[in-house]
Amino acid sequence: MPAATAKSSPARTIGLLTSGGDCAGLNAVIRAVVARAAGYGWTVRGIHQGTLGLMRRPVEFTTLDRHGAGTRILRLGGTILGTTNTGNPFAFPMADGSTRDRSAEVIEGVRLMDVDAVIGIGGDGSFAILRRLAQQGGIPLVGIPKTIDNDVGATERSVGYDTAVMVATEALDRLTPTAASHDRVMVLEVMGRDAGHIALAAGIAGGADVILLPEIPYHMEAIAAHIKALRHRGRNFALVVVAEAVPDRTGERVRRQQASGAFTYGGIGEIIAHAIADLTGAETRVTVLGHVQRGSQPTWNDRLIAQAFGVHAVDLVAAGRFDRMVAWQNRRVVDVPLGDVVDRPQTVELDSPLVLTARGLGICLGDS
Ligand code: F6P
Repeated sequence: MPAATAKSSPARTIGLLTSGGDCAGLNAVIRAVVARAAGYGWTVRGIHQGTLGLMRRPVEFTTLDRHGAGTRILRLGGTILGTTNTGNPFAFPMADGSTRDRSAEVIEGVRLMDVDAVIGIGGDGSFAILRRLAQQGGIPLVGIPKTIDNDVGATERSVGYDTAVMVATEALDRLTPTAASHDRVMVLEVMGRDAGHIALAAGIAGGADVILLPEIPYHMEAIAAHIKALRHRGRNFALVVVAEAVPDRTGERVRRQQASGAFTYGGIGEIIAHAIADLTGAETRVTVLGHVQRGSQPTWNDRLIAQAFGVHAVDLVAAGRFDRMVAWQNRRVVDVPLGDVVDRPQTVELDSPLVLTARGLGICLGDS
């Protein structure tokens, strides 16, 4: 790895974009990329709203410097560049309801920006799109994983996950006293898309009695029996964490179509709460945490990983090593082929240490 103040090499310009749903820690990545690039004497152009900024003419970007994108932004939630999780350029949604392939416009946008490489901060879906664009347009690309869902393959951590788990854990901390005061069963629905990482980690950390994951089919009778047993032992309340993509009793995942046409998960918490009330007679209440998990200041852990990733990504550009994603493995920042990550989401493994921990603690995972 080059020294902290890297030697200046032939002038380079990096295009930087955030893509997909926002999360805490994106600005910390941006800060780190700008700082490391400055060490090489390079320029960073921050592209607005992911690939949308590259479709617009003139191309929408801001040149980032250490003043505007310094430590001041390190602690800010969201992304100063803006992002999008709709508008796949290969099937771009048009006003008349049709879709159009606008990938050539995005590729031309990169050329017009006159950058030597692009660093894309994204999740699994974004990487699939960015890699395809890079291959089609001959764009040197490096990826940095971010998503509260923590489902990007080949990395133990994605930027944003730690903060989301912290927020969900805090929600359980806040729900516990009110649950106990009113003898209630509190159902907390958390995000995570098709992966149960947030639900599992926050559920264990926040002392949940039941955790339902998309990866484990549940039986209402088992959940009801667990809650009744708690009551039998003298507990007057219970905490139930439900991941948003847990299928309902028919096997369907509860989804809603948004104005953009995209489907988002949400609503399973109410269904579970009704069933618990029916089977146990308990008074239930539901909290849907939603986008609260994506906001807030990033935790120290997210800031740290974000900056380690940002520095390493710029070093990959310096080394001319493209089509790679930075990753966190065994307490180190490494890099892996992007091709090993795309379309290989990492869901909760049924024999993972956290699943075993939950079972060891006597937490009901819905199956027993
Ligand atoms: O992928 C991140 C995520 O927050 C998921 O956990 C959630 O299902 C989805 O994005 C929500 O997307 P939107 O911001 O479009 O509502």
